[in-house]
Amino acid sequence: MSEIIIKNAEQIEGIRKSSQLAGNTLKFISDYVKEGVNTLYLDTLIEKYIRDNGAIPAPLNYHGFPKSCCISLNDVICHGIPNEQTVLKEGDILNVDVTTILDGYYGDTSTMFTIGEVSKQAAKLVEDTEHALYLGIEQVKPGNYFGNIGFAIGRFAKAKKYGVVYEFCGHGIGMEFHEEPQVEHIAQRNSGEMMQEGMIFTIEPMINMGKARAKVDEVDGWTARTIDKKLSAQFEHTILVTKEGYEILTDVGEYDIFK
Ligand code: MF3
Ligand code: CO
Ligand code: CO
Repeated sequence: MSEIIIKNAEQIEGIRKSSQLAGNTLKFISDYVKEGVNTLYLDTLIEKYIRDNGAIPAPLNYHGFPKSCCISLNDVICHGIPNEQTVLKEGDILNVDVTTILDGYYGDTSTMFTIGEVSKQAAKLVEDTEHALYLGIEQVKPGNYFGNIGFAIGRFAKAKKYGVVYEFCGHGIGMEFHEEPQVEHIAQRNSGEMMQEGMIFTIEPMINMGKARAKVDEVDGWTARTIDKKLSAQFEHTILVTKEGYEILTDVGEYDIFK
């Protein structure tokens, strides 16, 4: 039995607006991401931007998460907690993950940024991870299997000898932060449920330079890191299944991620 919600036109419009705000929040913060700034400062600006636009940052107090967005540097895979001690420095790669609640509807998106000159390997990881997200997105159309998203991402990443994180997944989204289904980023061909017009979910591959395994920080209970301290990258969009294929609800056009 499928628990995956098919959204109606009114819900789709609400989720589209929230998703555009989430995307525009990343575009807004891109002007402030640079060497020398701490991640709590970025979180503060993100919270203000979201509230000034009539919305609420979804991560704040979500299962006890203490800040308004996730900022994950270098070997942090996801769920990094913004803090004053973490200051961006040349060579860092980081993910900023923004989720908005606008008129009760959720939109979720994340992007990588690079600070100054980063290693060739790090730059390639970032580029490849964005490519992996788009390979997943290209699988979205009515009648295709969710597993083919993970199959496309996994095949590409494995060929490049990366580790694909399997302990965190994409997810249905819209009326709640995390709805059915779980969207796997490494999966068997033609596995899982079938996509249908009106479904909305995220695709958010986390790709590691080394081993795929994640370990959550025992002290803060959130920060997920690679087990071998190697780099990890992630990009995320919120996707609507349309009659013909897909609409990337969080797409707000190009901006510079090389800082
Ligand atoms: N935005 C993350 C996702 O893509 C979830 C963050 S949960 C939080 O699913 F509590 F850490 F904010
Ligand atoms: Co998400
Ligand atoms: Co997210």
